[in-house]
Amino acid sequence: MVAPAGAQTERQGAARVAAASPAATAAHSVPHIVSKNGKFALMVDDAPYLILGGQANNSSNYPEFLPKVWPAIADMKANTLAMPVAWEQIEPVEGKFDFSFVDTLISQARARDVRLALLWFGTWKNTNPNYAPAWVKLDNQRFPRLTKKDGSTSNALSPHHKATLEADIKAYSALMRHLKKIDGERHTVILMQPENEAGVFGSLRDYSPTANALMSQPVPQALLTRLNKQPGNWSEVFGEDADEFFHAWSMASYIDQVAAAGKAIYPLPTYVNGSLRDPDPSKKAMTGLFYGSGGPSWNVIDIYKVAAPHIDLLAPDIYSSESVSYEATLKHYRRPDNALYVAESGTKSVFARYLFSILGQGGIGMDPFGLDYTGYSNYPLGAPYWGPEDVKPFARVYGLFAPMAREWARLSFESEVYGVAEPDDHSAQEIDLGPLWSAKVTYRQWQIGETYWLRKKDDLPKGSDVPSGGVAIARLGENEYLVTGQSARLTFGLAKGVKGRGMIFDRVEEGRFVKGKWVMSRIWNGDQTDYGLNFTDLPVVLKVRLASYTH
Ligand code: DGJ
Repeated sequence: MVAPAGAQTERQGAARVAAASPAATAAHSVPHIVSKNGKFALMVDDAPYLILGGQANNSSNYPEFLPKVWPAIADMKANTLAMPVAWEQIEPVEGKFDFSFVDTLISQARARDVRLALLWFGTWKNTNPNYAPAWVKLDNQRFPRLTKKDGSTSNALSPHHKATLEADIKAYSALMRHLKKIDGERHTVILMQPENEAGVFGSLRDYSPTANALMSQPVPQALLTRLNKQPGNWSEVFGEDADEFFHAWSMASYIDQVAAAGKAIYPLPTYVNGSLRDPDPSKKAMTGLFYGSGGPSWNVIDIYKVAAPHIDLLAPDIYSSESVSYEATLKHYRRPDNALYVAESGTKSVFARYLFSILGQGGIGMDPFGLDYTGYSNYPLGAPYWGPEDVKPFARVYGLFAPMAREWARLSFESEVYGVAEPDDHSAQEIDLGPLWSAKVTYRQWQIGETYWLRKKDDLPKGSDVPSGGVAIARLGENEYLVTGQSARLTFGLAKGVKGRGMIFDRVEEGRFVKGKWVMSRIWNGDQTDYGLNFTDLPVVLKVRLASYTH
């Protein structure tokens, strides 16, 4: 067969990437996720890595558009780019693979010292098959679509057909083989997302005869055990949730087989991302309408954990900017069996502060969606306009962590971390730091003095009506903490149970990490500490040693 224009052999691609990149470093193990006592680290080059990421727009995955992507990554101070790789792009003709974009992407990422998460737009992308090649998405006979309850056909492909699964596995495996060949030693690519926002809209599941037959089969024992349920078929065991749970199981099993095939070749860590169900369990769920049924929504995390052991983590795509909702979603996905990673987040400025909350809960990172300068903005879910000015709120928070990203990731895994983002109502937050110390975070404060001194109650810092604050704390030792934040006041105190003593700062150092070593620039005292530690919108990192005296 004749290769399509632009196609290349894998060997040619490997040679091109190698030539464009600096010499390979000593071999490290393949990136992987480790967990210990309910904490997680994404290990990259054998050390914990923090994803300060940005996700490109869906169709920015072509070489000509990369010059509009990299400046945004740089402006944002991001260290990781999440970029789609579409099935239609790598296998436009069945069996003929073209990895030229992947090669260009990797060599350009290396030149900028940026790591990559690759998003496999395969059988499902936002539930539909639109990124599958024409020979897949237009062949209903060979690759059947899902049947809705009323007998009509959905655009989404059914997860119940071997031909579809095998074709997807073949393409994804070819991608992983290529990555292993060109990047197996360098690890520019650190994470894979097999499929994208899998699930189905407009239906709860596939109602084809094939799917109906499977639905009347017994629920797998492993799932019954996990959920502590008695045997039966899906309807008997799960009642009104049966359709969604069955579809989640079917989707998770399919995606797991794609991921497993890829890992057998090159075991990069994997995650799946989900459109979101309302995080409030008391709210009526709009399954299949507002979120894709069968995707990794919080109510089916256990199902994914059992059906998809080759998926390392389930990640929420959070576009609801309300703080109550954002925080509730984080709580659903931060579990002892699931590393917290916000795979997509809105780009409105108010989303930037949530990094403090994500990292404070031991999260491995965050990716605002649609970060590039290709002229599209993600309004109304994201910012209405998007350009260098709009990136600044994200650059501000990323800028705090970027110089100490490795140190933070290590502390997050090996020590204790805490963090809060300003609630929409600006209310104060208490942080329990253990048996000795506690902390309180307040917002809309001037740096020197107390709010009750104000003659006019509303004489508050300009712009502070829009929530942007947050604080992150990492424990360095029994009485010592690394802290950073913005637009917030952090007050330390003794823990509630400690009586007869008063808290005093032993020492507050402002400084920064240089090549992993703390370098002090000054000591804070007097007005800089008398009214708490006040973070403005300037980048400040402090090392704080606490002490107490007897009353
Ligand atoms: C979620 C998807 O995963 C992204 O690829 C993108 O389509 C965004 N939605 C747009 O809001």
